Order: sequence, then structure tokens, then C-alpha cells
Amino acid sequence: MKEIRLEEIDSTNSYAKSRIDDFADKTVIFARRQTFGRGRLNRVWVDLGEGNLFMSIVLKPSNVLKDFYSNLTQYLSVCLCKVLEKYELRPQIKWPNDVLIAGKKIGGILSEAITNSGGNLRGIILGIGVNLNVKPCDVSKVSDKAITSLNLEIQKTVNVDEFRQKLLDEFFENYEKFLAQGFRFIKDDYILRNCFIGKELSVKVFDKVENGVAKSIDDYGELVLTKNDKDLVLTIGDIL
Ligand code: BTN
Repeated sequence: MKEIRLEEIDSTNSYAKSRIDDFADKTVIFARRQTFGRGRLNRVWVDLGEGNLFMSIVLKPSNVLKDFYSNLTQYLSVCLCKVLEKYELRPQIKWPNDVLIAGKKIGGILSEAITNSGGNLRGIILGIGVNLNVKPCDVSKVSDKAITSLNLEIQKTVNVDEFRQKLLDEFFENYEKFLAQGFRFIKDDYILRNCFIGKELSVKVFDKVENGVAKSIDDYGELVLTKNDKDLVLTIGDIL
């Protein structure tokens, strides 16, 4: 595993994307500051100051894009939960891959697959942002949702390098098993930590909002909503 440490960058994902062929499989890129962090569904990931985690992992598992690579974000969300649990916290996952503590977001994941004109996979960029050291007065800089940070939860400053290493160890410990088995490998761990099954949800899917009760997560990491006695299977979306 090669590590690239940047002082300041627009986005670690954009940096990896623009140089994807230069990086070997399992290259990890992280930055101390990120000036234009990107989130899921074209949102912005706000830099809440130094001491937070902005990291992208470049993965090249094969030359062919396989469906279950999209579940890598869910695998990483489980890894993040496991690391946060070492701090005696009880993190939960909001489908598909937001990590929350007591309903407040602490980490988000953005995966991007880069293919060539022939459809072959050049690489996957798995980006993660985790709030580790946020000043109480900066929490309101994220206005569209409630957020928290590890330092605020444990009342201690967090060493970013140590946290990053714990997360990478957790990720790479079972990465090959995940590649061999796909979402099924983490299904139980994922469901154990979910905060949505059984709840009445509104889920934004592109320009549409789907309502229903979250029935389950299937073997592919999809959300199964029940609406008027019919199941609706969602592969992508945002729980409102
Ligand atoms: C989300 O919750 O919407 C996903 C947020 C992902 C943010 C991380 S920070 C490191 C990497 N670089 C980016 O520009 N985005 C991801």
C-alpha cells in the first residue's frame, strides 16, 4: 500500500481521478485540507478545519467493472463503524453508506469508478470524509443536516494519523474476502448497524421521491421498500 500525503487539494477524489493511471492498486491519498470536497449526489463536502479526515483509496481489483464494486461504499461504512466502536460509540448506518452517531452524520463516502472508452475499468476511487476534530462553533457550517465529530463525542482531541491507520487496517484486513463474496460478506454486519429498517421513509431517487416502509436490505445491498403491499427495490437514493 502506497500513501500520498497532500497539504491542501481541491478534492482527494478529483486528484486521484485526474491521475488514475499513475496510481497502483491500493494507493491511499489523503490531504490535511480540502478546498472543494465533493459528496454524493453532487453535494459539497465541507472542510471543517484541520484535523479531519479527507482520504481516497485507489482500487484496481480487475479490468472489468463488476456490479458489486458499488457495495464497496457499504463495506467501508461498516469498517468505519467498527473503528468508531473501538471508542465505545454506537455508530449507525443510514442507507446506503452514511455513518451517524445518535442521528448526526460523522462520516460520508463517495465512490467513483473510472472506465476507458472500451468499458474497461481503470480504477475505483473510494473517498471518505470523517469528522474527527471539529470545533463546536464550526458545526453549524454544515446547514443541511445535523453533524457531529469524534472529538465532540469522546471529549478528546483525536490523532488523525492514528485514526486513519485504524481505518485502513480494518479495510484491508478483509478486503480480499469482500472481493470474493461481495455484499453478502458484510450483510449481517451492515444490518446490525442500520438505523432505518422498519421505519417509514421518503427516499429521493433522482427527481422522484419514493415513500414506503423500509422492509430489508437484500443480498446486493439494495433497499427494499414496501408500499401498498408491493416491494420496491432501490439501488440508489437518498433517505430524506
Ligand atoms: C457524502 O456523504 O456525500 C460523501 C462525502 C465524501 C467526502 C470525501 S472527503 C475525501 C474524498 N474527496 C472528496 O472530494 N470527497 C471524498
